[in-house]
Amino acid sequence: MKLKLKTVFVLYFMVSLLGLVYALMQLGQRCDCAEHDLPKDRTISWLRGELNRLQEQMKKSEATRQPQKQASKSSLPTIFVITPTYARLVQKAELTRLSQTFLHVPQLHWIVVEDSPRRTPLVTDFLMQSGLTYTHLHVPTDKDRKLQEGDPSWLKPRGVEQRNEGLRWLREDRRPRPGDDRQRGVVYFADDDNTYSLQIFEEMRSTQRVSVWPVGLVGGMKYERPVVEGGKVVRFHTGWRPSRPFPMDMAGFAVSLRLVLANPDACFDGEAPMGFLESSFLKGLVTMEELEPKADDCSKVLVWHTRTEKPKMKREEALQAQGLGSDPAVEV
Ligand code: UGA
Ligand code: MN
Repeated sequence: MKLKLKTVFVLYFMVSLLGLVYALMQLGQRCDCAEHDLPKDRTISWLRGELNRLQEQMKKSEATRQPQKQASKSSLPTIFVITPTYARLVQKAELTRLSQTFLHVPQLHWIVVEDSPRRTPLVTDFLMQSGLTYTHLHVPTDKDRKLQEGDPSWLKPRGVEQRNEGLRWLREDRRPRPGDDRQRGVVYFADDDNTYSLQIFEEMRSTQRVSVWPVGLVGGMKYERPVVEGGKVVRFHTGWRPSRPFPMDMAGFAVSLRLVLANPDACFDGEAPMGFLESSFLKGLVTMEELEPKADDCSKVLVWHTRTEKPKMKREEALQAQGLGSDPAVEV
């Protein structure tokens, strides 16, 4: 029987009230009415008994429910999401969108790696109030590897050192120690500007080695995806250099933590030619035949390679020139 706390309180209140009324009635009366009061006494003790019984039942159901909940939660493999991020006008908006998606995902550990020489106050405060389990790291991209203002976005790979720093932290934190089971988990590289459906996290949770799925709005196409025949990946649907070892976007695969730990040298190669960044990490870990297709044999798009427009600051700059710019103390 399901008991509401409210019901117990109402019962408790009624019992107390009856007790009070009874006590008041006794005031100033001679005590020769034992026979008359008997039914009232009986009601009170019956109600007290009921209350005790209900309280016992409540305790019991609490005790049996709690461990079940905890067991089912902790038996899920943790999803470690590695996100490179860098300071720009839209950064807080991107991190807000991302964190509010992640809040809906059980057993998720967010590894946020700032592309900066130190942890910034914006990201530090943001993570602290996020409500998520997280690790906050930072590593600056070398100047000669970083895109400069005006460079086309494809010129140099982005987020490379940051993802590698996330991997380094994981390998250190989850290094096998006798008798622990902290090597169970899944690693996913989630850029801060993409759009993630909650379902993609449930798809990747069962990853044994490397799991794969389609990514929407990427590579100048509606979607790119692994092509699945007889439950196996046989080739890739992509508009550009399908001969690459793994012609997939970063958002289209997840790797088991055990595989990451078993291959301590697997990392992203910042010198890899354009479009080969994902392959540089995956090629030492799996073959195409071993890939585990998810999202209904790669027939569903559950993640989108969205890109946020850079906000124009023309009017802000004009106002600033007149000393009337927005208050710099307001965090955006
Ligand atoms: C595409 C892929 O989706 C990325 O996974 C891949 O890293 C990238 O190309 C590449 O070729 O390097 P794209 O949208 O062009 O992504 O890249 P961004 O979203 O601009 O950057 C990827 C991640 O790196 C983001 O999380 C971003 O915050 C971060 N980043 C970007 C930095 O940490 N530092 C930068 O200077 C720029
Ligand atoms: Mn992006």
